[in-house]
Amino acid sequence: MKTIIVYYSFSGKTKKYAHELAAKENADVFSLKAEKPRTVLGAFLVGAPAAMRRKSARIGTLGFGFEEYDKIILAAPIWAGYPAPAFNSAVQLLPAGKQVELHFTSGSGDSSKSAQGTKDLIAGRGCELLAYIDVKL
Ligand SMILES: Cc1cc2nc3c(=O)[nH]c(=O)nc-3n(C[C@H](O)[C@H](O)[C@H](O)COP(=O)(O)O)c2cc1C
Repeated sequence: MKTIIVYYSFSGKTKKYAHELAAKENADVFSLKAEKPRTVLGAFLVGAPAAMRRKSARIGTLGFGFEEYDKIILAAPIWAGYPAPAFNSAVQLLPAGKQVELHFTSGSGDSSKSAQGTKDLIAGRGCELLAYIDVKL
């Protein structure tokens, strides 16, 4: 089973988490980069409201093909209760039929406000959700 962890990290916590997970799972790892990196103020004033509206962010072309992998782990921080916009960009690229695991990092370890809607997004791509994991960092 070939696995890739695709993550977005704004301030570095999800990056560290994703790399530790990749080592444990013997998985490849890929970092999503926002084409327009946000300042902290921008993350709160623009990024967080965008997350609440489930907007995506421009992430450019990926350096790999999702098709090569059986299992895809997506990891992202929670902003204002919702996954950061780069997560939505990755979801839009998921090919149908993949096994998907979601890991969300947050200060509270609680993304219950948005969890069901996020699970529905994965189902909407025709993917099987293996796990939804909240991580308190
Ligand atoms: C714009 C913004 C909004 C955030 N909103 C929440 C939130 O609603 N709930 C929460 O528990 N943590 C919130 N956090 C904290 C982050 O989710 C948490 O620190 C996360 O692990 C950071 O990951 P990163 O370092 O990879 O960016 C927010 C952080 C930012 C920058």
